[in-house]
Amino acid sequence: MKHDFERLPKSVVPKNYHLHFIPNIPQFSFTGSASISIKIEEKVDRITLNSVDLKISNVRVKSADGNIQKCKEVVYLTEIEVVHFQFDTLSPGEYSLDMDFEGELNDKMKGFYRSKYFSHPDMQERYAAVTQFEATDARRCFPCWDEPALKATFNISMTIPQNLVGLSNMPLIEETKSENGTKTLKFGTSPIMSTYLLAMCVGEYDYVEGSSKDGVKVRVYTPVGKKQQGLFALEVTIKVLPYYKDYFQIAYPLPKLDLIAISDFAAGAMEGWGLITYRETMVLVDPENTSLIRKQNIALTVGHEVAHQWFGNLVTMEWWTELWLNEGYASFTEFLCVNHLFPEYDIWTQFMTDMHSPALDADSLDNSHPIEVEVNHPAEIDEIFDEISYNKGASIIRMLHNYLGDEDFRKGMHLYLTKHQYKNTITENLWESLEKASGKVVANIMRTWIKQMGFPKVKVVKDTQEENGRRLVLEQTKFTANGSIDEKSFWMIPISIATPKSANALTTVLDKKEMEVFIENVTENDWIKINPGTIGFYRTQYPPDMLEKFIPAIRDLTLSPLDRLGLHDDLFALVQNGSNKTVESLKLIDAYRNEDNFTVWSSIATSLSKLKNLLSHTDLTDKFNAFGRHIFTPLADKLGWETKDNESHLETLLRSLVLSKLVSFNCEKTCEEATRRFYLHKEGKQILPADLRMTCYRAVLQNADDKVYEEMLALYRSTDLHEEKDRISRALGSINNPTILQKVIAFSMSKEEVRAQDAVFVIASVAVNPKGRDLTWTFFKENWKILLDQYSGGFLLTRLVKHITENFASEEKALEVDSFFKTHEFPGAERTIQQSIETIRLSTAWLNRDLAEITEYLKDY
Ligand code: BES
Ligand code: ZN
Repeated sequence: MKHDFERLPKSVVPKNYHLHFIPNIPQFSFTGSASISIKIEEKVDRITLNSVDLKISNVRVKSADGNIQKCKEVVYLTEIEVVHFQFDTLSPGEYSLDMDFEGELNDKMKGFYRSKYFSHPDMQERYAAVTQFEATDARRCFPCWDEPALKATFNISMTIPQNLVGLSNMPLIEETKSENGTKTLKFGTSPIMSTYLLAMCVGEYDYVEGSSKDGVKVRVYTPVGKKQQGLFALEVTIKVLPYYKDYFQIAYPLPKLDLIAISDFAAGAMEGWGLITYRETMVLVDPENTSLIRKQNIALTVGHEVAHQWFGNLVTMEWWTELWLNEGYASFTEFLCVNHLFPEYDIWTQFMTDMHSPALDADSLDNSHPIEVEVNHPAEIDEIFDEISYNKGASIIRMLHNYLGDEDFRKGMHLYLTKHQYKNTITENLWESLEKASGKVVANIMRTWIKQMGFPKVKVVKDTQEENGRRLVLEQTKFTANGSIDEKSFWMIPISIATPKSANALTTVLDKKEMEVFIENVTENDWIKINPGTIGFYRTQYPPDMLEKFIPAIRDLTLSPLDRLGLHDDLFALVQNGSNKTVESLKLIDAYRNEDNFTVWSSIATSLSKLKNLLSHTDLTDKFNAFGRHIFTPLADKLGWETKDNESHLETLLRSLVLSKLVSFNCEKTCEEATRRFYLHKEGKQILPADLRMTCYRAVLQNADDKVYEEMLALYRSTDLHEEKDRISRALGSINNPTILQKVIAFSMSKEEVRAQDAVFVIASVAVNPKGRDLTWTFFKENWKILLDQYSGGFLLTRLVKHITENFASEEKALEVDSFFKTHEFPGAERTIQQSIETIRLSTAWLNRDLAEITEYLKDY
């Protein structure tokens, strides 16, 4: 049951929190005391604040003149996560609100929780005490005004065993040792900040350290014995701090920035101000065992969390409705960071497949939501940490950045950050600053992208040759995943158009339903590309003869990678919604035979995986695999298995992609070679490069018997690198034998071997394998309570639900999923469930529509 959640009353507000914590790690508990400077704005007889699962005692209020009033009663309103402190009367003024409290160091990866590790040198099982507060879990650690706009300063201190490291947002300012073996650490006063950004870590850690050019002390804390693995993130952080400082013309305001790898972590990373917490796989790089794609992701993640130190921490959204201001922005800025530090990654091209295209997919559903959406209940808040806030948010910022130009964009950002620093904002504040800096219309355009869900399709409805060029008529309508017509929606679309002779033949804003444009200097045979660089957040539909004209430029690669990619991606989306035929897209893919760009291939590979998944419901799998091999074999022959000296980052990524696709398309030759290399690796004769391991593991596992399965588990047990464990356990999902897949699921649930943070991904890997689809769904229905309890409302559960349900393709299954979740509530997964049911129906329709034609086309393979 969702209760009516309300924002806290503003009659009493916090100014400063003095918090002291004493974790009792072996007992899985902690005690604390708080002394909070508050301001009472109007006469009240009670103080209301947030608290969950805490026992509070000894509550009193002290006035400026030393008068103490004891709290008459503490009333816990458990359902709405609030506590009332009842008093006689409290007149307006400044007070100190003091109390003691105690709680559990839970195993749910939220609030103040415990995380398991193995202590050196004897590898004893131990626990660390760490925090994860976003979005609404600071209230599980101490009673507080747990809303982003109720900013205060914080003085944290803690008493912990002397052998442990204790960290918080601010630098240590005092350490006192006590004879009983404990020490008390006092940290400096924080700037005024939101509760969700507080962080604490207590455990055994090593670190590496350095200083950024602009004088920030940076440390990366790692599990004991792994500090070398922190060096890459250290280097990225040290370099990105001055870059952001220069970009935004505002310095990072704290004297230090720590990054720490936490062994049990629900999200990927969390931007605590001055203390960023990470999942181990999102920050640790082991040169011999870390794949390049992982390293690239780590650079992006570091860039993302460091960007939050400005966007989010210094300037914070007023309420979770504006979450996108945090996450969309950081998701855009992480690409600025990596583009600056690693130009060889060509990361802006990858933006298309990583961010833009998934955002369009998600936002074409009827069950999408506007970027700005009303949220009240904590589960509703958790639910919007999704592709819309992140990917669509980042994509429309990129569109805006392009429309304004980098210089004005920077100016506007500087204005925004300076004007609102240490305060909270709504989206309009951002538009104001960007408008001021650029002199261009921003708010009116952007409103159409923020306040309504979905995005447009721009269709060329007329193309007429005239004397000096061609006259096009462009029309906008809502792009819908099921092809339905929606006449109501309308966007202000920044449009640009390129031709062979001009990269910038035309820019305009499509602010009507239909618009005529004249393109100079093009002949009848020239291609005309709408949305060059795939920067606008829309899909384009060309008439067949206009599409045809791109083919030579795709073949000879004169069209830019982002345009080659965009053409395929748009057409495939139009196939999925029924505007075009699947076979048209397969024919276009044939034009990419000379393609050499990693990201373009990555986009094609994603589409083919979608299709493979669809056809797994038919008997066309073998034929389709043959088609897939036909597409990828020439590339594999060219790239080979061996890394060349000095080969580029993208070439390595491409090899890894192509070989992994060939394994999934069951290419005998590739699988054999992969298996051979796997055994050389296992026997210690020739180490497999990390980039090829997943491919080889899958090749070996596809046809695994019990013996091979056990060998793989042995490999899993022999490593203590999370990335490697993660790789092996996710590869287990590709086993074809259903009896062994059952064992994989049981293995994933064995707390001893697989951490809860990883189990969902192992189960998901089984669920996305057609051979594991039904059995995972059955498992889920039988164990829903255990899963719900373990992941209670968090987004790990949401991801699991998504992967388990969305790959069916029949009306019968849609109804089954619907009826199961009607009787089993999953708070925070409601929208995901509706999206899954919608996706099942879309797949069903796609299959019915195109199966006959696909069958005919694949006949020759
Ligand atoms: N602020 C989030 C962490 C977070 C995510 C808190 C979900 C609560 C719920 C952080 O900045 C973030 O976005 N982390 C990402 C990784 C990032 C590189 C996209 C994550 O955890 O997936
Ligand atoms: Zn973020």
